Amino acid sequence: MPNTIRPRKQPHELRSHRWFGPDDLRSFGHRSRAKQMGFSREDWEGKPVIGILNTWSDLATCHTHFRQRAEEIKRGVWQAGGFPVEIPVMTLSESFMKPSSMFYRNLAAMESEETIRCHPLDAVVLMGGCDKTTPALIMGATSADIPAIFLPAGPMLKGNWNGTTLGSGTDAWKYWAERGAGNINECQWREIEDGIARSPGHCMTMGTASTMTAIAETLGLCLTGSSSIPAVHSAHSRMATQTGRRIVEMAWEDLKPSDILTADAFENAITVDMAIGGSTNAIIHLIAMAGRAGLPLPLDTFDKISHRTPVIANLRPSGEYLMEDLHDAGGLPALLHRIRPLLHVNCLTITGKTLGENIEGAQVYNDKVILPLDQPLSKAGATFVLRGNLAPDGCVIKPTAAEPRLLKHTGPALVFHDYADLKKRIDDESLNVTADSVIVLQSGGPIGAPGMPEWGMLPIPKKLLKQGVRDMVRISDARMSGTSYGTCVLHVSPESALGGPIALVRDGDLIELDVQARRIHLHVSDEELAKRRAEWKPAPPRFERGYGQLFCQQTTQAHEGCDFVFLHHGKPTPEPDIY
Ligand code: FES
Repeated sequence: MPNTIRPRKQPHELRSHRWFGPDDLRSFGHRSRAKQMGFSREDWEGKPVIGILNTWSDLATCHTHFRQRAEEIKRGVWQAGGFPVEIPVMTLSESFMKPSSMFYRNLAAMESEETIRCHPLDAVVLMGGCDKTTPALIMGATSADIPAIFLPAGPMLKGNWNGTTLGSGTDAWKYWAERGAGNINECQWREIEDGIARSPGHCMTMGTASTMTAIAETLGLCLTGSSSIPAVHSAHSRMATQTGRRIVEMAWEDLKPSDILTADAFENAITVDMAIGGSTNAIIHLIAMAGRAGLPLPLDTFDKISHRTPVIANLRPSGEYLMEDLHDAGGLPALLHRIRPLLHVNCLTITGKTLGENIEGAQVYNDKVILPLDQPLSKAGATFVLRGNLAPDGCVIKPTAAEPRLLKHTGPALVFHDYADLKKRIDDESLNVTADSVIVLQSGGPIGAPGMPEWGMLPIPKKLLKQGVRDMVRISDARMSGTSYGTCVLHVSPESALGGPIALVRDGDLIELDVQARRIHLHVSDEELAKRRAEWKPAPPRFERGYGQLFCQQTTQAHEGCDFVFLHHGKPTPEPDIY
């Protein structure tokens, strides 16, 4: 049982005291510049300085409420006797950033870490929620290792189209396929465009955003129950103010990410990822986050936990409901309480209490949304790890989002060399493809794409859509959106740009998928593969300079978390000198 009563710091022990306390010329400069902003000594003296890292921007569509929430956090900080300062940090707009927000996750993490380190901050609130913002902020704060609370943006309201509930992402893919099949006209398509995202907040399906905020809460980095509160709910504002109050206490207690992010906490996070039918992206982010904490997280750990964890969140894309329904059903604490026997409940959290204490007495109010343990969506968890000669370092699939008949399938490969090739040919009426074909996309990985975009839900050829085909086996070294669905084998590692076996597949090769056996096999002899490997040539480097070059030189493969090698956990970075 962790010791939840921690000795409190004295004011002169605060990190910010190094900037504001000494009677020297440099500190005079810091104080006079704080006064330049209209603050008095009474505002900061003897108080923890709380940084509010805000990922608001006019292009961060899911964070449009963050200006108001930042003010509400400040209210809580002032109430508790802290000194709040709001600092903009790089946001990652899932909707607008190209080639992929994943390309910039590590840059945002690095910026967050250094923003924390270089400023006179005693503790921070991390404001995120849209897909990669959550891991980026947590990775940065973990490396900086001062007290931190993650404030989840909260899901947006349910979408609506003429009385039909819409889930962001998931229903966009669904109705786009129907449009391709000629079942939706342009007018109806525009109506869906009007109604699919109708409030601030992140995607309200169990996509990557909802998965990562649930994981952040399970890790112990958020206030209890905060991750499922809809963004526009008044409870979200109250939670923001409470976060402000709590972070001041944490600054005095010196309760840091390194006290919270243990191997057991990460096992809990994986368990929840499996129980909620979480996004496949979570695997990459969890490996990277654990890496920052110095904890190795091999892919096989995910599969081991998946084996024993039923999917009990009946949420799209695996199930029926949306995040608003999860909140009304009792939220994440109720779900955690239901899977309590599978959790390490003694893990310490930012509340100063254990996970078990946090969820004590939590109740499920709707068994259709949070399913009973004996009536799960699936007896095993959301993501399976596959291996075979096509993916020696592993790949993943979300079987709950696939048509069951395809989970054991052998078919001829139809290969696209990159996404441009796929876009050009996929709807060609003369394409040699049947419902049994296995579509393979190369050059979609961390380096090949670059940034491993969410291309993995490869489109079904239009001519098959018209025949009623809605799912096929699709394989790539890319990722897929957490809101996507289908029999999509993802994160094939090593990627094709590095000459992984996926680079050697040719049209007509037989590929065998056996999800229960966790197997993916390319039926080509070792001799033939060796011959093809000898002929294979890497593409010339795409970037001659800049961030792109840094990314391609430093990023690791999917099974290693795609973090930059030089940002991995190591000797602590020294505190800045203040001269
Ligand atoms: Fe922000 Fe989906 S676009 S979470």
